[in-house]
Amino acid sequence: MRQPLVAGNWKMNGSVEEIKALLDGILAGMGDVKRAEVAVCPPAIYIPQVQSILQGGAVAWGGQDLSTHESGAYTGEIAGPMLKEFGCAYAIIGHSERRSYHAESDETVADKFEAALKYGLKPIFCIGETLEERESGVTEQVVARQIDAVINKLGVDALAKGVIAYEPVWAIGTGKTASPEQAQEVHAFIRGRIAKQSGDVAQKVRILYGGSMKPGNAAELLAKEDIDGGLIGGAALKAEDFLGICRAAN
Ligand code: PGA
Repeated sequence: MRQPLVAGNWKMNGSVEEIKALLDGILAGMGDVKRAEVAVCPPAIYIPQVQSILQGGAVAWGGQDLSTHESGAYTGEIAGPMLKEFGCAYAIIGHSERRSYHAESDETVADKFEAALKYGLKPIFCIGETLEERESGVTEQVVARQIDAVINKLGVDALAKGVIAYEPVWAIGTGKTASPEQAQEVHAFIRGRIAKQSGDVAQKVRILYGGSMKPGNAAELLAKEDIDGGLIGGAALKAEDFLGICRAAN
């Protein structure tokens, strides 16, 4: 049985004061979260603050990205060992906003997957098609290509050491959620593709859904066989909404 994971991707939002209030709210409601593992991914500069509040408790934290390098002349980047030093368990990699605004290729994302594992972080590996790709009927080819970049570089077993997040780009921040059936179809395709190489990895790996997930639609998405949690953007910025999604996994 795969334990669901609900992870908040705060993106470039928050302040010291807002983060304190948000985490206090989340921690106050964690008693009703029975089944899901819970994590938050703040902007990197707030990770020490998040660590000081969450240390020793039930909520994990992670970075929103990491460098493919360990250290050196890479202005503006954050390295895996730095995230690890501040207690991160996870690092989101390959988010569509990084793929599109920072021109991250499938190969770069595979390098980041490798870097995360090397420095003891679990990658939350994001994949998903754009609206144009969906409308031209190439959703499966796109997610297959994205997954294969990691399998070809690191082998299929590496996938079991991370988490996959299927995030249709057209559903991110748009209020347009994939229907539970649409999401399940792609999740099943992803698991099936992995199963062709390893049934064991396919059974083990958690595949999260992301894209306008909210308390009102979380339960029916999470009820689908191959949906093992959520990567939450907008709704992760309000404690009650985020907790509502975490509880929906009960
Ligand atoms: P959203 O973002 O929940 O605001 O759609 C999800 C994500 O980008 O991870």
